[in-house]
Amino acid sequence: MADNKIIDGKLIAETIKKEIAAEVANMIDTGVGAPHLAAILVGDDGASLTYVSSKEKACHSVGMLSSVYRLSAKSSEEDILKTIDFLNNDPEIDGFIVQLPLPAHINETKIIQAINHNKDVDGFTLCNIGLMQLGEPCYLPATPFGIHELLKRSNVEIAGKHIVVMGRSNIVGTPVSVMLSRKGIDATVTICHSKTENIKEITRQADILIVAIGQPEFVKADMVKEGAVVIDVGIHRIKDDSEKGYHIVGDVDFKEVYKVASKITPVPGGVGPMTIVSLLHNTLLAAKNNRK
Ligand code: GUN
Repeated sequence: MADNKIIDGKLIAETIKKEIAAEVANMIDTGVGAPHLAAILVGDDGASLTYVSSKEKACHSVGMLSSVYRLSAKSSEEDILKTIDFLNNDPEIDGFIVQLPLPAHINETKIIQAINHNKDVDGFTLCNIGLMQLGEPCYLPATPFGIHELLKRSNVEIAGKHIVVMGRSNIVGTPVSVMLSRKGIDATVTICHSKTENIKEITRQADILIVAIGQPEFVKADMVKEGAVVIDVGIHRIKDDSEKGYHIVGDVDFKEVYKVASKITPVPGGVGPMTIVSLLHNTLLAAKNNRK
């Protein structure tokens, strides 16, 4: 039987994928054509290869086109900038990403900021960050978008509620705080971080607690108000004696916190499956915007 307490990210992601697939099919049927996402992958980092391959598979599963531009780990900034310039100007490509991390000799900021903001489906360019802050239409970064969708689609009331965000990273904590406090979403947001004093007193005030601190099972039951909604962004491999040799945990001690929360995301199967869906959503949006 379905457990109403658990926010099933896998199921919600599948539902959104079906919605996107229907829109893509309509674009193909009406002669607009399928949205096309490209990825620039520099070097052979194992995790990056896996991520890019998952993104390609996800594109194909909803009928989108995908291309990968692979560059050697020894590429210069100039080589990467040339590929970006090519994709910025290729009318066949609706949106693209530069998979991070980049090799140490490359200035990541310089590379990301070279992406045309109209094709920046990761939402990483200064222009998209600024538009989000202004509450204007933009490409939202994947994890904040995914968290908002999980809350909306689980009928969690957000307007007027106190959201406490643990973590202030550039790709999760900071943007999700800005996004959820904008007009129209209307949460009251507090950000906690490694220097926050009496953190438990603050997290216990949260109606919705979003945890993105990168510490395995850091959040215990006594840090959470009875009935709070808990969103766990963390993902950690913990070595064990099982056949696989490891198991996955989040930033939240799920077993303990499950008892006090009214709703909670599992790890795996919570926020994770939503991030690639966000990229598909942004690619669809880019195709609609750029083919007008
Ligand atoms: N590396 C890990 N996550 C991401 C992401 O969301 N986008 C890009 N471009 N690289 C990443």
